[in-house]
Amino acid sequence: MSYGFKGRVLRSSAVLALASALATPVMAEEIFYVSGAVGNAVENFKTLVKPWEEATGNTVTLVPMPASTSDQFGQYRLWLAAGATDIDLYQTDVIWAPQLADHFVDLSEAAKDLAPQHFPSIIQSQTVNGKLVALPIFTDAPALYYRKDLLDKYGVAVPTTWDELTAAAQKIQDGERAAGNADFWGYVWQGNAYEGLTCNALEWIKSFGGGQIVEPDGTISVNNPNAVKALETAKGWVGTISPEGVLAYQEEEARGLWQTGNAAFMRNWPYAYGLGNGDDSAVKGKFAVATLPKGTADDTSAATLGGWNVAVSKYSKHQDIAISLALYLAGPEAQKQRAIAETNLPTIVALYDDADIAAAAPIIPQWKEVFLNAVPRPSAPTLGKYNEVSSKFWSAVHETLSGNGSAADNLEVLESDLTELKGSAW
Ligand code: GLC
Repeated sequence: MSYGFKGRVLRSSAVLALASALATPVMAEEIFYVSGAVGNAVENFKTLVKPWEEATGNTVTLVPMPASTSDQFGQYRLWLAAGATDIDLYQTDVIWAPQLADHFVDLSEAAKDLAPQHFPSIIQSQTVNGKLVALPIFTDAPALYYRKDLLDKYGVAVPTTWDELTAAAQKIQDGERAAGNADFWGYVWQGNAYEGLTCNALEWIKSFGGGQIVEPDGTISVNNPNAVKALETAKGWVGTISPEGVLAYQEEEARGLWQTGNAAFMRNWPYAYGLGNGDDSAVKGKFAVATLPKGTADDTSAATLGGWNVAVSKYSKHQDIAISLALYLAGPEAQKQRAIAETNLPTIVALYDDADIAAAAPIIPQWKEVFLNAVPRPSAPTLGKYNEVSSKFWSAVHETLSGNGSAADNLEVLESDLTELKGSAW
């Protein structure tokens, strides 16, 4: 018997030899995975991918990016537009799926057994016109980190409104400074002009009843009195309970100050929980987390929905191997490892009942309801224009916080800029 193969006729023995050669990888491949990272993510990545490397014989090289998601996005966009073949997988922010969808492989078929194990809303966020653009590896929703010991020392309750937070932070800061610590601050957060400020400011505005910048139906809602109030409140923190330098802080700068023990409160994502309890942390065992404060007692606390995913490049020369790695990273084994080593919130439902995770990272089961109720940024309604919407928004906020124009004036200008950007439709 003979079989046609690429225009040649092979005898059956030759076909068997070919089949067995294909079954055992003849050559191990080096796979390139590009990712930004905070905390111990780069260090942990090696441990994380080891079981996959051992099982498949391939190796993974991490190409590290700047920590800022906005900087990563800029670089990814250049590589993808150029059809770069040397990067196989991209770690992608939850907000990017609609903008980068065309460059990634559809993972729906490959992930047909895995996807149903994830929270449906997260799979949905990575699905663009029926194409599963990326697989979730962890989700994110921020917390208000507070120093239990200092709240006790000053007889202060965990704040539930931004005014309570302001008063509590001021009281503790005054006390600690009077006791001789001139470097002590009340509240640290992310005020740099980048995507992280969009997250912080969306939380202030939404929790003052001021909407979500652009509503799910595409309406531009950001210019309203509650949003003005929210931004003016935050502006009042700069140079009082927060250092002037907060206007240049991203996640890691806030965590750095917090972990030296020089802040009463911090806004940050769950990754800071495990690191804060590390042996080299001055706040180990001294802090707890609560939901972020709200505008008034009648408002609702708001947490921005974050999270990271893995996408396979359409331009990769090793797509099948890359898909296998993506399935591994989004699967239960890797997500559990990441939950324990990095306190990242899993996207696999069952892991919220995992006893090892609950013991190592109590914030994880505690945070399930918070991320399930988190507020998405308007990346779905604004489609390919989200990055521009966000950068116009964070710029207007940054100007306001820096004292360049009032919140009312800056939001009015922002509204007209966004209207122009939208044109007749997003
Ligand atoms: C976190 C979130 C991500 C967000 C970023 C902003 O990494 O997971 O979604 O865009 O912070 O700095």
